[in-house]
Amino acid sequence: METIKGFSKLSKSEKMQWVATQFASDAKAVVEEWQSFWHPEAEQQRVLDGFSENTLSNFPIPFGVAPNFIINDQVYTIPMVIEESSVVAAAAYAAKIWMSRGGFRAEVVNSVKIGQVHFLWKGTTNTLFEHFEAIKHKMLSNAKPITARMEKRGGGILEVELLDKTKEEPNYYQLKVSFETCDSMGANFINSVLESFGKDLKGYAQTHLEDPLEVVMAILSNYTPDCLVKAWVNCPVEQLTHICQDLDGATFAQKFCTAVRIAEIDPYRATTHNKGIYNGIDAVVLATANDFRAIEACGHAYASRDGQYRSLSRCTVERGIFHFELTVPMAVGTVGGLTKLHPIARRSLELLGNPSAKELMQIIASVGLAQNFAALKSLITTGIQQGHMKMHLYNILQHFNAQNGEVEATLQHFKDKVVSFNAVRTFLEENRKVS
Ligand code: MEV
Repeated sequence: METIKGFSKLSKSEKMQWVATQFASDAKAVVEEWQSFWHPEAEQQRVLDGFSENTLSNFPIPFGVAPNFIINDQVYTIPMVIEESSVVAAAAYAAKIWMSRGGFRAEVVNSVKIGQVHFLWKGTTNTLFEHFEAIKHKMLSNAKPITARMEKRGGGILEVELLDKTKEEPNYYQLKVSFETCDSMGANFINSVLESFGKDLKGYAQTHLEDPLEVVMAILSNYTPDCLVKAWVNCPVEQLTHICQDLDGATFAQKFCTAVRIAEIDPYRATTHNKGIYNGIDAVVLATANDFRAIEACGHAYASRDGQYRSLSRCTVERGIFHFELTVPMAVGTVGGLTKLHPIARRSLELLGNPSAKELMQIIASVGLAQNFAALKSLITTGIQQGHMKMHLYNILQHFNAQNGEVEATLQHFKDKVVSFNAVRTFLEENRKVS
């Protein structure tokens, strides 16, 4: 590999050409392959290119749907973008199970977002706190041009607190600002307000205070423990009897609860358990062009809120009722960002009935719970590999370019056998020899 100056200034073709020649003996073929993934309409490709820098091509990931989700008595077909086999099938399976057991219920607990201005102040703590009301007044009135529109929509700045952090770091103080951002995720709005606050803070110190004040940074926090959504399912344990052939409902419910309890106690299990929840959450977050890194980072921080990483879901069996719930932070938007710019995300939101941000929070949490339910159900009964291997088998068959008859014969053959790449190859080779 070589280094290069001014790469970002090259045209798209020049970029592809340069990169391809760096690693491929047949650069032309690589460039053609990248080009083959371009959108056939130049205008659509231009929109996609605009989302990032140095774009060479598109990276396709399956866009699928899980139908039959009943959430708060409404039926949804859920758009999901995910590359892992079985995730969509598992969500659809859980949706079907709960469809005839009352469906999913969900509610938004609260919707507060947080931003911070981190700064250093060398004067006395008292002086800063004495001036805080005046500083706050100045910051709020100067931010009016930024907040006016959000206020019209019912949102805006909820609270501005001054925190003394000097015990943890000399001279360190913080403005902790709470926001309501309505249907937008609000990152741009929050960051603009915070940068305006930072300037005012510094300006106020220069004109009214003797000691220097240095703003270190102003940025939203992706930790939003007060932007929570809760989803749950429940039913009498007898209604779980037919879920798995050889387990009665009460035994299934008990074993299921123990599996959840293990994820509450043990961080090794909790990580995998929560990963399964995010299989569903991320897929919908991606399909609606929301920020899955923010959602995940926050979820995992929230899972550690008492000092130990734990399961995000909880399960109880009380007086014959199985109750399974998930409470997660969920800072998503249905306006702004890429939600309406990305052509497929726009359609995803349409498919969901153009939900408000609060409705989307409830939909996503329900899918996370469904995913968790399906994973645990498999784990405590058949094991996870049965479903995974079936999907894996399809991938292997595709690798060997298996034709219709071969696919059916192979599926039949491996119904009760362990699937492996070599075993499938051998089976296909034998089969091809015979025919
Ligand atoms: C795999 O992507 C997710 C699971 O491992 C989740 C879990 O173990 O609960 C099946």
